[in-house]
Amino acid sequence: MTRRLGRTQVGIVGGGPAGLMLSHLLHVAGIESVVIEIRSHDEIEQTPRAGILERDSVRLLVDSGVSDRVLRDGHEHQGIDLRFGGVSHRIDFQGLVGASTWLYPQTDVFLDLAAARARDGGDVRYSVVDTQIVDITTDRPGMLFSDADGVEHEIRCDVLVGADGSHSMTRSAVAGRREYFGQYPYAWFGILCEAPPSNDVLIYTRSDRGFALISQRTESVQRMYFQCSPEESVDDWSEDRIWSELQSRLAGADGFALQEGRIFSKSVLPFRSYVCEPIRHGNLFLAGDAAHTVPPTGAKGLNLALADVRVLAELLERAVLKKDDSALDTYTERALSRVWKAQYFSTWLTTLLHTLPGASDFDVRRQLAELSAVVDSEHGAAFLAESYTGWPS
Ligand code: DHB
Repeated sequence: MTRRLGRTQVGIVGGGPAGLMLSHLLHVAGIESVVIEIRSHDEIEQTPRAGILERDSVRLLVDSGVSDRVLRDGHEHQGIDLRFGGVSHRIDFQGLVGASTWLYPQTDVFLDLAAARARDGGDVRYSVVDTQIVDITTDRPGMLFSDADGVEHEIRCDVLVGADGSHSMTRSAVAGRREYFGQYPYAWFGILCEAPPSNDVLIYTRSDRGFALISQRTESVQRMYFQCSPEESVDDWSEDRIWSELQSRLAGADGFALQEGRIFSKSVLPFRSYVCEPIRHGNLFLAGDAAHTVPPTGAKGLNLALADVRVLAELLERAVLKKDDSALDTYTERALSRVWKAQYFSTWLTTLLHTLPGASDFDVRRQLAELSAVVDSEHGAAFLAESYTGWPS
């Protein structure tokens, strides 16, 4: 069978938010790209992911011309509630650091990006198979793949980008990489349910039975999570058992009422920290989950992916259009300095709110004191607010 040969400036493996946003930013800068993705458009759309955008992620979507739908359909959140000892404490982001976050699920970010690429004539190929990357240390690296009709393709580029998620296959081409792992003795049980919102902002709760997070999607659909064992099976959790567990974790003297409804999605979410270093090898650059994963507490994953590609697009613009290749040497350091801050913050927020199997009475009192130290201090609360809404780039 003959292979179809093609050429572009930047070949992007992965059509999630990182790959599509990069392709969009490059297009705005006048640089061509081709995106390939093993999943179909519908499969990506149907995968539930996190829902919180930092201030600069919202700005990037709007100011780069992807879409301003986030401003109309998203919800601005001016804070979060930290709940412990059965009482909620508002962390007022606006009052503390003059910033907000936006509740706008990753699925919507993906839909906006996919629509913007289609609108601008972008070349995005979904449902490809048998992807390989070749010759990454030469000046004509390539992507080989077969399309949904079984036709084989070879696309040669100036630069390749691996934005192919946490199970990245492009990452293995980074010779001599150092990998950092953080493990946690818990996971999250996530549900989607048909219920009205229980609160105006997200509630991050520490209880003696473990962590719980009450998030939102729409006026009639809510997203909630609770700490569970990594070995937990969704089949062991009936609706009744889930509601009784969530109700006990949220219960308190303030009479907070958690709204219940039919649960239509249940899953156990993995929990780990990972950083790959460097995230460039030859003419291959990694971005987003392919390069790093953070624990979900604080919803930094998507925001980090968008921050990576904002930096990468700027450096590629300098390298491709202004022939300044040295710019690309700064990518690993610039992107990973933010990633490590996010690793620190996500781990901190996780340990602040989760209970450890076998914790001593001392551990429990120390954790409650740490929570008080955050909510009782303007400086403590401002640290949380600044990290949660996103450090300036
Ligand atoms: C959501 C997920 C998170 O990990 C988080 O910290 C906040 C919100 C969500 O899916 O809505």
